[in-house]
Amino acid sequence: MLKIGRNDPCWCGSGKKYKQCHEAFDAKIKKYQLQGVQVPDHEIIKTPEQIEGIKKSCKVNIQILDTLDKEVCEGMELSKINDIVNEITYGAGAIPAPLNYEGYPYSVCTSVNEQVCHGFPHKGKYLQDGDIVNIDCSTILDGYFSDSSRMYCIGNVSEEKRKLVEVTKESVYAGLEKVQPWGRLGDMGQAVHDYCYDRGYTVVREIGGHGVGLEFHEDPWVGYHSKAGTEMLLVPGMTFTIEPMVNLGKEKIKTDKENGWEVSTADGLPSAQWEIMVLVTEEGHEVLCY
Ligand code: MF3
Ligand code: CO
Repeated sequence: MLKIGRNDPCWCGSGKKYKQCHEAFDAKIKKYQLQGVQVPDHEIIKTPEQIEGIKKSCKVNIQILDTLDKEVCEGMELSKINDIVNEITYGAGAIPAPLNYEGYPYSVCTSVNEQVCHGFPHKGKYLQDGDIVNIDCSTILDGYFSDSSRMYCIGNVSEEKRKLVEVTKESVYAGLEKVQPWGRLGDMGQAVHDYCYDRGYTVVREIGGHGVGLEFHEDPWVGYHSKAGTEMLLVPGMTFTIEPMVNLGKEKIKTDKENGWEVSTADGLPSAQWEIMVLVTEEGHEVLCY
């Protein structure tokens, strides 16, 4: 971390002297670090001004998913979802974050049934009765990033799939309850893990959530096979996603060899995912995007 003089302006942009602002906060983090705890650096601790910007970006992302809540239906071509995302995003003066991200060729991810994540919103592929689909939206507004996803049940979905979708959502909120300042990221991870495994489901190991806000993917990496009391220290101003991919069958996944993006379960059984974006606050947490 940068050395700041006690009378210099604080790094958070408050305009106050460092000694009257974040000096004690930094000292507290340092204490954890000296005990061997992995701590966040300033780059991922957002200032009040940055949080305002991130919240505006989140508003657009929520608006997109709220619209899709009303529009998504049986028979819909997946490319239509991509069109809706583009229309709302550009209409709001924003940019779809997935487009061209490491070469990703669409503005949104649509992952159907056994697809785990990064499904392509193809032309010529239609939502069918009984499908479950995750729609994952990410937005850049004025340089600030937001990211969230929801599940949609199309027509008559089997009890087995419906339950998977429901438990997956509940697991996200079980994890959220553990997000507290001066707690640890693993507190959240284990809560998600236990919620799913206690009910007979598995959680994907290799792909997780991430810090988000100033970049699409920042530190920390957010997994769900971690233990309570381990992983990065949580401090006010951190923003990250909780987005477990929960499988009906085994944990194992495979990536499409041709396009290198679309991830599915190895056993072909259904997978579900919900994603929220969370801010760690002085009091606990705030959901920024869902
Ligand atoms: N939205 C995904 C996430 O939650 C990221 C997708 S990367 C993309 O992290 F390139 F496929 F968009
Ligand atoms: Co994400």
